[in-house]
Amino acid sequence: MADRQSARAGKRLVLDKLAKRFQRKGQQQVIAVNGIDLTVNEGELLGLLGPSGCGKSTTLRMIAGLEEPTSGDIRIGERSIVGSPPHARNVAVAFENYALYPPLTVRENIAFGLRARKEKNADQRAREVADRLGISHLLDRKPGGLSSGQKQAVSLARAIVREPDVLLLDEPLSHLDAAERDSTRRELKRLQRETGYTTVLVTHDQQEALSLADRIAVMNAGVFQQVGTAAEVYDRPANLFVADFVGEPRMNLVAGTAVAIPGGMRIHLSGDAVLDLAGDIGAQPRDVTLGIRPQDLRVGRPDDAGALPATVFAYEPLQEVGRLTVTLPGVENRVVVETHHDYWADGGDMVGLKFNPERTHLFDNATGARIEWQPR
Ligand SMILES: Nc1ncnc2c1ncn2[C@@H]1O[C@H](COP(=O)(O)OP(=O)(O)OP(=O)(O)O)[C@@H](O)[C@H]1O
Ligand SMILES: [Mg+2]
Repeated sequence: MADRQSARAGKRLVLDKLAKRFQRKGQQQVIAVNGIDLTVNEGELLGLLGPSGCGKSTTLRMIAGLEEPTSGDIRIGERSIVGSPPHARNVAVAFENYALYPPLTVRENIAFGLRARKEKNADQRAREVADRLGISHLLDRKPGGLSSGQKQAVSLARAIVREPDVLLLDEPLSHLDAAERDSTRRELKRLQRETGYTTVLVTHDQQEALSLADRIAVMNAGVFQQVGTAAEVYDRPANLFVADFVGEPRMNLVAGTAVAIPGGMRIHLSGDAVLDLAGDIGAQPRDVTLGIRPQDLRVGRPDDAGALPATVFAYEPLQEVGRLTVTLPGVENRVVVETHHDYWADGGDMVGLKFNPERTHLFDNATGARIEWQPR
């Protein structure tokens, strides 16, 4: 199976200044996708991650041919596919709302596209893919009696079995329960690797994006905020949106003013709370937002050298780690610290926060853009 399919591995997908505006009568125009550029390499799995309504599905629907772009181009290999009908594109889609044919069995549903194109071994190939996704016991059943998770797996199988140039998955695991999702996610990753389909996977679940994707495109309000590997997006978020959206628990973000001091900079978070960093911020004071992930803070004593004194708001012992929430004097936002599981503190205790400077992020308050303040 692997051999046959690798010979048909996917093709490069290019989005070129792609845009989609919706105009409904008597309503304001909606800019769903606002001029995006993207290259998904052959065999790559790109995760499209973003909040509800940011334009993810519209992007997929344009690639699939279910929606025509307002402007811009879509190419598979060297060929522009804008204007060609969906069935002529060799793009397979599995959407969240699996459109299965109720009168057909699962086997017939999976093999439908192959049979329509008079391809050989349709049933055998349907069985192989069903085996891989753990649904071969459902092959003779009709969709009506299946759980939503099972329907979703069938819809996934139906897309994969077609051996497309480009595979589009829109929230393909959203209806699975936690255990099913874990195992289907692993199978999906293996299948994608073995088959080498160029794949775009839409999700608003960052765990799914981080664990499956070679690269992630973070989208908001119809534009890409950042495109990069999971590590790039997580370690060097390009702006405040990405910093806030990616990472669990969320990155602490505290506004302040950065001023140059001899040998570095001082960030005034409030009257009392200041943090010194050994990096260059430029001669002019700058309104910034300081970002640090809960995992990159350490707790010590309030009078430790370089520590920022803080008051414990609450401590929650969790399974493997603890979560400490503290307040800084004069700072409105609470700050969350991930601690060792055997840590303990009570509300009202005084502690000192130690920042890992290499993992401390600065963003420009006016633009939201990341400030590169330390030598790479
Ligand atoms: N056919 C349409 N007519 C008018 N507006 C639309 C249409 N389809 C989508 N939109 C609007 O375009 C924007 C992007 O929608 P889209 O479905 O692409 O978002 P999404 O990122 O897939 O969101 P979700 O995570 O909720 O699925 C939204 O504001 C949506 O209301
Ligand atoms: Mg959607």
